[in-house]
Amino acid sequence: MLFAAAELAPWMKTGGLGEVAATLPAALRAAGVDVRVLVPAYRSVREALRGARVVAEVTQPGGAYPPALLLAGATPAGVPVFAVDCPALYARGGDPYCDAAGHDWPDNHLRFGLLSKIAALVALGLPGIEWVPHILHCNDWHTGLGPAYLHFAAVAHVRSVFTIHNIAYQGIFPGDTLDQLALPPRAFAMDGVEFHGKLSFLKAGIQYADALTTVSPTHAREIQGEQLGFGLGGLLHQRAGVLTGILNGFDPGQWNPATDAHLAQRYDGGTLEAKAANKSALQRRLRLPVTDDMPLLGVVSRLTHQKGLDLLLAVAREVRELPAQLAVLGSGDKALERQFSVLARAHPQRCAAVIGFDEALAHLIEAGADIFVMPSRFEPCGLNQMYSLRYGTPPVVRATGGLADTVVDCDETTLAAGTANGFVFTGPTPQGLLAALRRAVIAWRDRARWRQLQRNGMRADFSWRAGAQRYCELYRALVVAA
Ligand code: ADP
Ligand code: GLC
Repeated sequence: MLFAAAELAPWMKTGGLGEVAATLPAALRAAGVDVRVLVPAYRSVREALRGARVVAEVTQPGGAYPPALLLAGATPAGVPVFAVDCPALYARGGDPYCDAAGHDWPDNHLRFGLLSKIAALVALGLPGIEWVPHILHCNDWHTGLGPAYLHFAAVAHVRSVFTIHNIAYQGIFPGDTLDQLALPPRAFAMDGVEFHGKLSFLKAGIQYADALTTVSPTHAREIQGEQLGFGLGGLLHQRAGVLTGILNGFDPGQWNPATDAHLAQRYDGGTLEAKAANKSALQRRLRLPVTDDMPLLGVVSRLTHQKGLDLLLAVAREVRELPAQLAVLGSGDKALERQFSVLARAHPQRCAAVIGFDEALAHLIEAGADIFVMPSRFEPCGLNQMYSLRYGTPPVVRATGGLADTVVDCDETTLAAGTANGFVFTGPTPQGLLAALRRAVIAWRDRARWRQLQRNGMRADFSWRAGAQRYCELYRALVVAA
């Protein structure tokens, strides 16, 4: 199986996609699937693969795409990788999608068109690579043209799977890019890549893949509706027969409070009192008063509308008065970055904000916070709430997507049943969030009850074991049906 994605941790990661591209293939290999990953050779990837073999040179007839080399190496976890080396397109600063000022790269259609094209070429059998997969598994809009190229190549030996990690990003470009992307004119149709007069990479994946998945069962239902279908709900509903929701997992070796090198003190379900050392380390690191008289709320997030953190800003005063401290790590939307920085400067006793991407601090927040906050408007799966459950840091989440599938609201019944592991609210409003935060803070004060809640969350298995099995079954069914 060839797994194609725009991100691959630890070399390139802006969110959950990079993490999944690293951990799912590793889990699949452990389950016996011969999987290789295809990513662009960004600067960091070239650096990591220095000295790697060049296994193919890809020059497209007609010059639709610039020539590229294919490098072969392996991830730190030992998963074989092909990297598309075309420095003019990929060896840039910034992140995979934007320049340092946050503007999309103007040639993103070519950058991800080439990635999609090479994914399809490898799947079709590329001279120089003595390996042909049965399945091409593409992820998000960046590789959405992969299934389209396969469709128009009209071959029988390879099937495609397309996973939607984030339906809000669709890769929409002017219709006249069709030529540059070397797609046939007939692809530009309602039942093709055309979307309101433009070309949509995401729609291409949804339209042409043999099977579709998204990253939680609840989100698989949500995206067939108007509200969270982002204009593609009707098409997804039509394709519901081939769409499944498979909950993401994570690497329990990397996110484990008993072995995590980023923590001030390690702990497990039996030594939860040791978690306190991480709270004080986090408070010191963020220059917050070191106290256990009030709970510390933690946030690690991309700062975008999706994540609903404007709701938290709207109740910041009430949160301070609960009382509670707040530690935010995030980057993205410049207005949100500014508002969190202003909040932290105005109330340094209660609020701290670190604007940026910091893997080590993310781990310390998961361990050092008492309560993790994730008020997302939509959340296809979400990894952070799963990490927080594992770290004994009960999350406050909105009932959407993977949050609804992983967090069980705490009440008398769920506590008695031993299933309660966090706090869930429904309406995406500041009042809804505040009410859930209040319940969490009240529960935190009852230390025995809190311990129980923490242990319930820590017991769950969020590894890839179940999810990898589901993907294996899906691949097998596609190959058998071929
Ligand atoms: P999304 O993919 O929508 O951003 P997820 O919860 O699936 O949301 O995954 C986010 C991943 O990115 C997690 O591994 C999280 O720890 C990480 N992350 C997000 N923002 C930051 C940040 N500012 N610093 C460090 N890690 C971050
Ligand atoms: C997306 C989603 C997130 C999911 C991640 C990995 O970025 O926003 O919910 O966990 O992809 O699938």
